[in-house]
Amino acid sequence: MKKQNILITGGFGLLGKPLTLKLINLKHNIFILEKKKNSKRLIFLPKKPKMIIQGDFTNKKLVESIIKKNKINAIFHLGAITQVLDSLKKPYETHSVNVMGTINFLENIRLINKKITFIYSSSDKAYGELNKRKEYKEDDTLDGIYPYDVSKSASDLICQSYSKTYGMKVGIIRCGNIYGPGDLNLGRLIPEVILSTIAKKKFIIRSNGRARRDYVFVEDVVDAYLKLFNKIKSSKDHLKIYNVSSKFNYSVLQVVNMILKKMNSVKLKSIVSNTSKQELNFQRLNYSKINRDLGWKPKTDMQIGLEKTISWYIKFYKFLKNNKK
Ligand SMILES: NC(=O)c1ccc[n+]([C@@H]2O[C@H](COP(=O)([O-])OP(=O)(O)OC[C@H]3O[C@@H](n4cnc5c(N)ncnc54)[C@H](O)[C@@H]3O)[C@@H](O)[C@H]2O)c1
Repeated sequence: MKKQNILITGGFGLLGKPLTLKLINLKHNIFILEKKKNSKRLIFLPKKPKMIIQGDFTNKKLVESIIKKNKINAIFHLGAITQVLDSLKKPYETHSVNVMGTINFLENIRLINKKITFIYSSSDKAYGELNKRKEYKEDDTLDGIYPYDVSKSASDLICQSYSKTYGMKVGIIRCGNIYGPGDLNLGRLIPEVILSTIAKKKFIIRSNGRARRDYVFVEDVVDAYLKLFNKIKSSKDHLKIYNVSSKFNYSVLQVVNMILKKMNSVKLKSIVSNTSKQELNFQRLNYSKINRDLGWKPKTDMQIGLEKTISWYIKFYKFLKNNKK
């Protein structure tokens, strides 16, 4: 593929960092649009993107000027309010950022150059409850319930609508729970359990611990994004939608116990507080379509993925301790 000018939003996030590095290695020009400050102490990128723009994509004019000034050919739109608890407290902001933010890109692409490829990070949450189905397939109805979930269902549908109506090249990935090194959302399940275990504290499970999710390692997700990007660039089809996940479908309690075991800390038995009830009970994605079409499948065993993640947080914990003022 010819060198592309690629804009990545949320480039300092869990998925954004390894995706940025892979695309830099593939010799593309990478532009990051991020709200977070580029604190070198925390957001360490071993290779430099062409440009890091600190800004907010809810500003439509800013998005327009970035696309025009840098002759952007492709956009990976990863940035979003991603924390389910934040979105429960701030539904208005969630929809402004996640839905209107996404429209800002689609509308600018429509007006500036419809050939710009747009890759959107949707989620298994966009499907809503599984109810009597065993797993979600790509042609299932999007039926989110809670604010974050609905923001993903709505944005996903809006992306599809722009593609179908205006012939824009859009790729959508609906992913299960991503985990791996470098996640600075320290309130997410896996980082929080690891960090509380390092600190020798018992982990408090906010829910009843029985909610089941698919877990997929971040590097595998990056591969899926790259495969989709290559496909959409070379294909005549305008819209491609894929589920991305793994066979590792576990309850919260199972994940917590797996980590405790790996960290030789089973004595730190977690406490189930059952205070948070606003979440889906069971989620499972069928990812045979991406396997069939693009030859993608997850490569990382969850035991190995967890080991890599735990090692990263052990270093991170030491780093935080040594840098405390
Ligand atoms: N992590 C998961 O388990 C998971 C699962 C399915 C889908 N997704 C989706 O994948 C994408 C990436 O997830 P992640 O876990 O890497 O997220 P993350 O929370 O680690 O990173 C998101 C980044 O977006 C940035 N951002 C938020 N609002 C912004 C704004 N208005 N302007 C500019 N930047 C802004 C934040 O600063 C943050 O660095 C998200 O869209 C998320 O909804 C994530």
